[in-house]
Amino acid sequence: MNDIQAAGRPAVGGPQDLFYSTANTVGLPRIVRGENIYVWDDQGRRLADVSSGAIVSNIGQGNERVLRAMYEQGKKLSFSYVRVSRHDPNSDLSEKLAKLAGPGYERCHFTSGGSEANEMAIKFCRQYAYATGQTRKTRVISCMPSYHGGTLGTIAVTGDLDFAPVYGDMVTFSAKVPSPFTYRVPQGHTAETYALECARQLETTIVELGPENVLCFIFEPVGGLSTGANVPPAAYFREIRRICSRYGVFLVFDEVMAGAGRTGKFLAADHWPEAKPDLIVLAKGLAAGYTPLGAVLAPARLVDELASLTGFNLAHTYNANPITCAGACAVLDETVESRLVENAASMGRYMFSQLRELAATSPIIGDVRGKGFLCAIELVKNKDTKEMLAPHVRAADRVRQIAMEHGMLIYARRTSGGKFGEWFMASPPLITTQSQVDEIVAGIGATLGDLTDELHRANAL
Ligand SMILES: Cc1ncc(COP(=O)(O)O)c(C=O)c1O
Repeated sequence: MNDIQAAGRPAVGGPQDLFYSTANTVGLPRIVRGENIYVWDDQGRRLADVSSGAIVSNIGQGNERVLRAMYEQGKKLSFSYVRVSRHDPNSDLSEKLAKLAGPGYERCHFTSGGSEANEMAIKFCRQYAYATGQTRKTRVISCMPSYHGGTLGTIAVTGDLDFAPVYGDMVTFSAKVPSPFTYRVPQGHTAETYALECARQLETTIVELGPENVLCFIFEPVGGLSTGANVPPAAYFREIRRICSRYGVFLVFDEVMAGAGRTGKFLAADHWPEAKPDLIVLAKGLAAGYTPLGAVLAPARLVDELASLTGFNLAHTYNANPITCAGACAVLDETVESRLVENAASMGRYMFSQLRELAATSPIIGDVRGKGFLCAIELVKNKDTKEMLAPHVRAADRVRQIAMEHGMLIYARRTSGGKFGEWFMASPPLITTQSQVDEIVAGIGATLGDLTDELHRANAL
């Protein structure tokens, strides 16, 4: 046996995680099958999919309707390229999605995932500005922290302190304004006054850069992993809408995690109808893991005007391919007919109440936040001072590992070196029932109980 094999790494091939830090991949299970909200590993162990993979598996595993739709479509027409032909699954999906999204989002541009869709949204803004004579508009503004993807284009707008030293010389970073965190706010502020201060900084940044140079502000209306499902106060939404309109800056909502029903409304933007963005980006739950898919939702007004000028001429080979579109149509039908958005709202409320009860008795739960079934639990060393746990205890990753002993698969990853806090996602599939919520909350309680004991033993509390 050579050194590579001794370390559990095959000489040839191996799973994707061989590329990741070995410290973060301790004990990854080998998943062999899935059903409903559960997956099973090769040891026969059943794990509840508490974070829906990475907030993807909205309708759970093995949905016959979706699988059949993709199979039937593939038999009829497997592939057809969008630049040289049109096909019904593309038009059907656009129509279904635009109707669910409502007025202002009549056109849908499909991509292969969230990063690609965010890039398309930014490039659409740029092409529109260019075509309408606003040629200097190139600067993008986003939040620190935030996550918008892993391509070079989206790394440039993502707010993650770890990216700057590695990629800083390769991309032009967006200007960053602070994320309107609600839990840990600077002294003298409430969540609301801090959010307004963050909005004020957006305005100042636009003015400093020169409004004629600023293209768009891209923002996660309900945060994902980078802020731990942060939900800003309504006043923040009203302010950023006012500011973007005032200076002619596109407001883009990155709903890659939060969209497609996850927060208890089809669009996260629907929670703040007075502050509708110009463009919305979806991915993840839109095809619920059955096939790679992202989408940019845009008003017909802008798309049709641009089409009569230069057009927006970018495409990738797999955009709007027939099998993907057929699968996503079935996911949307399932979402609507099984009332999964409503379930995310009501069961999400129930899960929050149960988790908040748990938080009252756990010494390390600092905050439980989010909307619907997009929820994060923030871990702290001291609940009164909100002091963070020491980085070396690797709390988020320990949650992932311990949770498996309690029958749960949890997505937890430290972002920005933990500078803004440490949390994990309790965001199960939208099909999750009340008894499954009870099972998940009990599992989280047991996991955090074990972690608390471990932290005591290590003198880390
Ligand atoms: C808010 C947000 N935007 C963009 C992305 C990138 O999407 P993808 O991984 O599909 O490229 C993610 C992925 O986690 C995300 O959470």
